[in-house]
Amino acid sequence: MDSNKRPDNMKRINTPELAAAFIDEQVAAVRAQVGSKKVLLALSGGVDSSVVAALLIKAIGKQLVCVHVNHGLMRKGESEDVVEVFRNQLDANLVYIDATDRFLDKLEGVFDPETKRKIIGGEFVRVFEEEARKLEGISFLAQGTIYPDILESDGVKAHHNVGGLPDDIQFEGLVEPIKLLYKDEVRVVGKALGLPAAMVDRQPFPGPGLGVRCTGAITRDRLHALRESDAILREEFNKAGLTDKVWQFFTVVPDFRSTGVREGKRVFDWPVIIRAVNTVDAMSATVPELDWAVLKKITDRILAEVPGVCRVLYDLSPKAPATIEWE
Ligand code: XMP
Repeated sequence: MDSNKRPDNMKRINTPELAAAFIDEQVAAVRAQVGSKKVLLALSGGVDSSVVAALLIKAIGKQLVCVHVNHGLMRKGESEDVVEVFRNQLDANLVYIDATDRFLDKLEGVFDPETKRKIIGGEFVRVFEEEARKLEGISFLAQGTIYPDILESDGVKAHHNVGGLPDDIQFEGLVEPIKLLYKDEVRVVGKALGLPAAMVDRQPFPGPGLGVRCTGAITRDRLHALRESDAILREEFNKAGLTDKVWQFFTVVPDFRSTGVREGKRVFDWPVIIRAVNTVDAMSATVPELDWAVLKKITDRILAEVPGVCRVLYDLSPKAPATIEWE
């Protein structure tokens, strides 16, 4: 039987009971596969790798070594959340690497979006490989592959995402416990494993992270403006009860300035663009009609709290012709 094919009679995992049965099954399968050997996992903090981590912690505890690479392009607080949940709450064996400077140095002056993506993806694999080599006695590599990745394995996702396979390290085998699950099932399993809802219900986040939302050549000042404005947007959406109503939302800081005036003096500062969309499958998307007061509150806060920003805009463009991300 092809182990990469979902059996026709496999039930859709949509209840805590079905999730619990799946977890028991996979815990037994992983134990049988790896015995007392060690397993390595690149834990980005995204839904898929988080669910695999939680499942493997349940199955093999400290035999799992998670490596979290902070590429400096995470949303505000995200790396800290990964450490808090996995190291402090789940007692995982977690190696945290802050590679911010390494990534930002490599990206300095790079304008082209595809080159940026390649640098981020390539550097990620290198950092992960270096770390893997330092760790002794690792036999298996775990991955958060899910069923749509297999269905799309003409490579769409593979080069879409950061964190490919370290290809010059030999592992005895791969551990891919959720590879036959659809995304909604991964979330149900994640909840059954006790992961926080905020982690399991996360919005899609590009592998290159904020790198695709800080358009053109990434600079530390614009990256700071992006991270802070994004955090304000999330906070205000939360307060307004929009977090579960809008499919995806974030800010963008483009690489052009405009004129403003601050304390009687002309300034030449960055704009922040708010992007919010509703969609079913991300192939097309509409823009929600947000409450004016909410938009105004977000605008006022960004202008008051984020240095180097003199304008806030709301992107009203549907997909198509616009894409959801700006780059
Ligand atoms: P676009 O911009 O093509 O985005 O309309 C569609 C959806 O895909 C997400 N996206 C990515 N997801 N790796 C991912 O896993 C990526 O590199 C990437 N780029 C865009 C985007 O956030 C939106 O939800």
